[in-house]
Amino acid sequence: PNTIPSICGLPLKYVSLVTLAVQNALLTLIMHYSRVSAAPSHTYSAAAAVLLTELLKGSISLVVAFTRLDSYAPQYLPNGTPATNSCWNPWLLLTRFRRLGKEVFRSDCWKLSIPAILYVIQNNLQFVAVSNLEAATFQVSYQMKILTTAAFSVVLLRKKLSTTKWLALLFLAIGVGVVQIQNVGHKSAESTEHDMNAFKGFMAVVAACFTSGLAGVYFEMVLKNSTGDLWVRNVQLSLFSLLPALVPIVFSGSSATTATATTSGWFSTSLFDNFGVWAWATVLTQVLGGLLTALVIKYADNILKGFATSLSIVISFLASVALFSFPITVSFLVGSLVVLVATWLYNQPDTASSSSTTGSE
Ligand code: C5P
Repeated sequence: PNTIPSICGLPLKYVSLVTLAVQNALLTLIMHYSRVSAAPSHTYSAAAAVLLTELLKGSISLVVAFTRLDSYAPQYLPNGTPATNSCWNPWLLLTRFRRLGKEVFRSDCWKLSIPAILYVIQNNLQFVAVSNLEAATFQVSYQMKILTTAAFSVVLLRKKLSTTKWLALLFLAIGVGVVQIQNVGHKSAESTEHDMNAFKGFMAVVAACFTSGLAGVYFEMVLKNSTGDLWVRNVQLSLFSLLPALVPIVFSGSSATTATATTSGWFSTSLFDNFGVWAWATVLTQVLGGLLTALVIKYADNILKGFATSLSIVISFLASVALFSFPITVSFLVGSLVVLVATWLYNQPDTASSSSTTGSE
């Protein structure tokens, strides 16, 4: 069983969940602002942001994996005492790097290539979605990933879902549908001003939900069906992400078209053109989110992760109203309420085999 570490006496499990809820809401708002409101005509490259995120996340994970080496790959001295990292002797440091290298490039590291590719696609799609939908609409629609996560859990992890959970999933789909109604007949001041394409945005969300479910379930399979430290797994995930993250950059290299808020931003003249404060804020929030997601999957579970995400809907909805003059329509309120109730219903413990029916956990 996992030993749950704590921060200032608070279990890391709950600290990571609450932080994830705030991070989720913040990410939607910052990303939306950075793409749509801050510099609508000359936006930054989404592909560069995705690449930077992976580089930063991978570096942080590498440092943590290095410092924790003795806990998951202990080495013993000839006299039987454990070798510690207290010494800054260059030779000992070198052997520690070699031990870490062995862990990172262990024979099963290739397994992380699948979620890595899927997450890179998802992270790029997220930019397309957030550039074409209202922040709150994106946040609610993105809840459909509970649906895809459940579907992949049933297929890949052979989990059984209770009738209540299937019912909750049905409500979720209905709720998201109701929220989308407002996009059909209504265009906000912002969407008219910035030429947002709701259909394109919604398609991107649907695709991102698909990759989110598959990648999440696959990552969980790797974590739980094999040994290997979480931080080493994160390093492997980031390493395998680098190549797919470079693909859109390489393929758009010859193009000299300036990006606009309606494109995914892959066609900038230079990789870091228009990469301002808000672009950096987006990258840093993404890095935080990635690390928190990994912690939540390890120390809590996807039931609680669902709660954190649904809480973030309320936060970003209220902020959207205040910051982006998001219109409060009846269909948005009803749809959001249905999504929240569905999330709550989905997270109710089953009376019978609760441990085998916990969504993507
Ligand atoms: O869709 P979901 O909320 O599961 O999003 C997961 C996010 O967390 C993705 O952006 C992914 O790149 C990131 N992640 C990560 N490290 C993990 C698992 C997910 O950076 N171990």
